Amino acid sequence: MFATTAAPVILALASAVWALPSSVPMALFESVSSAPAGWNLNGAAAKDEVMNLRIHLAKQNVAEFQELAVKIATPGDAQYGKHLTVEQIDAIVGPSAESKDLVFQWLGNHSLADSAVLNSRGNVVKVKATISQVEALLGTQYSTYTNADTGKTASRALNVYVPQALMKHIDVIQPTTFFGFKKLTPTFHPRTDLNRRATVTTPTALASLYQFSGITALKSGIMGIAGFIEQWPSKTDLTTFMNKFTISGFVAVHAQQTPQGANIGIEANLDVQYARAITSTIPNVFYSTGGEDDSIYEDLAEYILGLAASSRPNVISVSYGGDEYEVALSVADATCNLFSELGAAGISVLYASGDSGEDVLS
Ligand SMILES: *[C@@H]1O[C@H](CO)[C@@H](O)[C@H](O)[C@H]1NC(C)=O
Repeated sequence: MFATTAAPVILALASAVWALPSSVPMALFESVSSAPAGWNLNGAAAKDEVMNLRIHLAKQNVAEFQELAVKIATPGDAQYGKHLTVEQIDAIVGPSAESKDLVFQWLGNHSLADSAVLNSRGNVVKVKATISQVEALLGTQYSTYTNADTGKTASRALNVYVPQALMKHIDVIQPTTFFGFKKLTPTFHPRTDLNRRATVTTPTALASLYQFSGITALKSGIMGIAGFIEQWPSKTDLTTFMNKFTISGFVAVHAQQTPQGANIGIEANLDVQYARAITSTIPNVFYSTGGEDDSIYEDLAEYILGLAASSRPNVISVSYGGDEYEVALSVADATCNLFSELGAAGISVLYASGDSGEDVLS
């Protein structure tokens, strides 16, 4: 009797001590005071829930790289237009071998090294682990939240700790503090008075306002349009739109390879119709980014940088917006750094800053 009750207690103690390298001093990596508005707490996350943790190894020489990226984008500068390959970018900003080794050592200390994979660029470690494993790794607790508008649930941690020695070797650890980029739905007011150019935006009105209707049509390059949250444009709607708003010399080219019939998104339709209407015969490509809400821009940028230079868009328009103050600082930094890499590689990114504005709360 005595032996059978005592033994499990000793075993449990032994394994708890063994699993926690408590000699390693931990530091607060990132923290948010609460979930963003609209996310309601359900309770503790299920310990056996499996999650895909992303750990971005720290980029090096970020300030120098940004300076270079600005020069590459500045007409008149000696570096102007001298776009870089991804290899050249990584030679500047790629993480150090020390960062990679320490992160894998840390994961190994938590028996997670075998579940960790380094991406092909060598800068992001992806770990498949249970919530309880991640909680032990990050010295935190995950809770589950439900979004009141969308009904989506998410397991997140509000405080994240890493070994002190790793602080400067990691840029981002998610999903932790970031609840995802928000879906902003445009509001529509049906108009019938389309000839009143002064007050109604149509492709024809834009052509006259910016005087591009008579320009020589370009045929090369690619104009990219980004779409998210599983919304696609409709080919039929595009044809209707282009037939309604004919600008001389401009032709309707169908959006390629988009699933039709389901999830026709107002935002996707609007973006494709206006891009098509003002880009003449330049090929348009609609990039539909799936994946998790907290990594959509990262996924898009990595996809495009992963393409051969000849298949990349010259310009990519992102019409989706969000409330910047709700984006975890680490994610905001990493996203901006990726956009500057796109710029250095010769891809201009147009953002929805004139839409809901840079500073307007939705
Ligand atoms: C891994 O564990 C060992 C032993 O506790 C410790 O000395 C080392 O600093 C740990 N490594 C990291 C990166 O936390």
